Amino acid sequence: MRRPYIAGNWKMNMTIEQAEQLAGALVDGVSADTGVEVAVIPPFLAIPTVARVIEGSAVQLGAQDVYFEKSGAFTGEISAGMLADAGCSFALVGHSERRHVLMESDEIIRKKLEALLGQGLNVILCVGELIEEREANETEKRLNIQIRAGLEGLSSDQMKNITIAYEPVWAIGTGKVATTAQAQDAHKFIRNLVAEIFDRDVADAVRIQYGGSVKPDNAAELMAQPDVDGALVGGAALKPDSFLGIIAGA
Ligand code: 13P
Repeated sequence: MRRPYIAGNWKMNMTIEQAEQLAGALVDGVSADTGVEVAVIPPFLAIPTVARVIEGSAVQLGAQDVYFEKSGAFTGEISAGMLADAGCSFALVGHSERRHVLMESDEIIRKKLEALLGQGLNVILCVGELIEEREANETEKRLNIQIRAGLEGLSSDQMKNITIAYEPVWAIGTGKVATTAQAQDAHKFIRNLVAEIFDRDVADAVRIQYGGSVKPDNAAELMAQPDVDGALVGGAALKPDSFLGIIAGA
């Protein structure tokens, strides 16, 4: 059985004080025995504060991005080692905003993923199609490219440290959630692709989160789909009530 995994991506929001308060509210609201894994993904500057607040709790800590080099003259960047040092257990790579606003390629995303694994950190690899691609019936083509670029060549053992997040770009921050059928179809396609690249055991074990306008009132239905193993939440992760409502839905 895959344990539901819900992560809140705070994106470029929250002062350090607001982050401290939100993390505190989640620590109070999330118990270790719900059977759901819960993580928060604050902006870099709030990571040390959030790490302190969630210490000893059931809430896990991740980063929104990473740079693939270990150290040196890379002004503005943060390495996987720095994230581990600050208390992160994972990071996102390939978020659609990194791909489409910051113009990150599949090649760069792969290097970032390997840098995280090299530090013993877990990875949430984000994939998803643009609206133009969905309308042109090219969703599977795009997912195939992104998943193969991200995962081909890893070992089955390394796959234990990988979560996949399917986030259709047109559903992110738009209030336009994928239908349960659209989500299930894409997740099933991704799982079968993982089976093709690795094997059925790896595919059955890998968790695939859905992301894109997940709210307390649609979370339970989405996560009830057989191949939807949790959620990567943006806007609704910024308020304790709505994020805890989504966790309750799992
Ligand atoms: P929204 O939940 O705001 O649509 O954001 C989804 C997302 O991008 C999470 O990474």
